[in-house]
Parts: sequence; structure tokens; C-alpha cells
Amino acid sequence: MAETTVSAVCIGSLSVNVVEEHSKVETDLSDEKAEGLVKFIAGKAWPAGLVLAEYFIWRLRNLPLNCGPKKTFKMLELGAGTGVTSLFVGKTLQTMQTTQQAEIYVSDLDVAVPLIVKNIDANFTRSESTQQLQMHGIELDWTKYEDTRSLLGRMHALALSDMDSDEPVFDLIYASDVVYFPHLFDPLIQTLVILCTHPETIKNSTSKRRRKQPELLLTCRMRELSKEHPFYAKLGKYFHLVPLDNCEWDNGVFWEKYRGEYVMFRCVLREVALESEESDDFETILQGMMDVDLFS
Ligand SMILES: C[S@@+](CC[C@H](N)C(=O)[O-])C[C@H]1O[C@@H](n2cnc3c(N)ncnc32)[C@H](O)[C@@H]1O
Repeated sequence: MAETTVSAVCIGSLSVNVVEEHSKVETDLSDEKAEGLVKFIAGKAWPAGLVLAEYFIWRLRNLPLNCGPKKTFKMLELGAGTGVTSLFVGKTLQTMQTTQQAEIYVSDLDVAVPLIVKNIDANFTRSESTQQLQMHGIELDWTKYEDTRSLLGRMHALALSDMDSDEPVFDLIYASDVVYFPHLFDPLIQTLVILCTHPETIKNSTSKRRRKQPELLLTCRMRELSKEHPFYAKLGKYFHLVPLDNCEWDNGVFWEKYRGEYVMFRCVLREVALESEESDDFETILQGMMDVDLFS
């Protein structure tokens, strides 16, 4: 049985209740798909989630949400675990008392969704979540949707958006600390590509019309670069990886506080994937962040 704890986590003046489930990992740790290990990983809030939350608190208070002509700004968190980042996103929007309608889809494997729902319920009352802000715990397993249309179709149905619209389903997609097991690298990259590709482009692959893309932000704690690097190198085949601007986040808080320990960057879908299997965008980001050559 997993032990459940609830703790108040504060960032500045904002506080959220984080429900965690501490599973005992009795299984062989080398079995990356063992249920005990999967639940252990999803059951706790990881530090990169808090770094991303800190960034969003600054950003939501300082930059307007841009959802074009649509009424509702829609966000999707991938591999959310407890959903701690989204809890802070929701709390920030609530304390700002903005009139902008927002929906946050907090996703993970199906086994992790009940904990996400517990976390949403521990922080937002049902009446609150029917007004300006709606929070949803949903299953989105990166290994499950090989077929592009089925994933996009499900996302459109969930978010009640129109498949034929020029607008992307989500305005903002984010994830923290989702790069750790090599067997997940390809499915995660494929999911990110699908989520950033407009269905029109799939129907008509010769269409040159550029559609609006969702903004995609990833944050990770750098643990073992030699193991994580293949993911980023391959991600760069499909996306330009763009580091946070120096002046973003209070004139460089990220670079001062977290430089060398975390990476945070935007992924902008390339119009055409690179022919080579890798790009060196990530190395360029790292070399800009650190004064050492990590790969020599
Ligand atoms: C290290 S945790 C990070 C959790 C959270 N983002 C945080 O920072 O606290 C990685 C998360 O990825 C999720 N994950 C692993 N495989 C997945 C898959 N195939 N589809 C969706 N999520 C997955 C795990 O369940 C876990 O919640």
C-alpha cells in the first residue's frame, strides 16, 4: 500500500497542497515498466516541476495570455505526476482574478490520473473550477497513440475544439522532468510532433500554409547528460530548440538561479524535419549556459 501525504508547497506568497503517494519500490529497479516503479515516479513532485511553476507564476503575472480569437486559453501538461506545476498555474490565474477563461488539461498515464484528480480537488473547489478556470485530469500515454489522427482527434474531442479550425487545440503545452527512460524517448518525441502538427497538414501534406502552433516548453533537471543527450539531439531533428530569452523571467532569474542545474527551452516545430537524425541545438543551449564543454 502506498502512503499518502499532503504538504503545503510555497513559491513566494502562493501555496498549493500537494498530495503525494509514496509507493514502495520492491520490484527490480532495472525493470523500467514495473508498476511499482511507474507509480513511485508518478507519485511525487519532482524539483523541475517547481522550477517550471516558478517561471509560470512570473509569466502569467507579467505577460498577457494570447489565445487569438478564441475565448478560452487552453493548456496541456504532459507527464504531470502530481500536477504540481499546473496547480501553481491554476492558483496564479485565480489570484489574478483575470476575466480570461482558461482550461488546464493535466495529463499522465492512466494509473497516475487518480492522483492528479486528488491534487486538483485538494486545491480547487468544484464551483471554482466551473467559472473562469477549469482543471481536468486526463490520460495521455505517449506510447499509445501511434496514429496521428487518433491522438489529435482525442485531444480535439476532450477540449471540445473544432478539427477544421486554424487554431491549435492547445495554446500552451508544457512538461517537466519527462526525459529519463530511453524506451520513452521516441514515443514522447512523436507525441510532441503530433501535438504541434495541424490536422490540415496531415490531410494535405503538400499544403504550404503555415498554421499557428502551440507554444511548447520543456524543463528538465540535468542528471546524467550522457543518458539524456540522445533525447535532446533527436528532438532537434523535428524542433528548433530555443532557450529562454535572457530578459525573460525577471531579467534573467532563470540563468542566475538555475544555470547549470536545469534546462528550460521552447520547441518550435521545424517546417521540415532535418535529414540527419540529430541536431546540435541542445549542445548550443548548454554551451551558452555553462562555460564548460560538457561533451568533450
Ligand atoms: C519524473 S516524473 C515528473 C512528474 C512531474 N512532471 C514533475 O515534475 O513533478 C515523469 C512523469 O512522466 C510520466 N510518464 C512516464 N511514461 C509516460 C507515458 N508513456 N505517457 C505519459 N506519461 C508518462 C510518469 O508517470 C511521471 O509522472
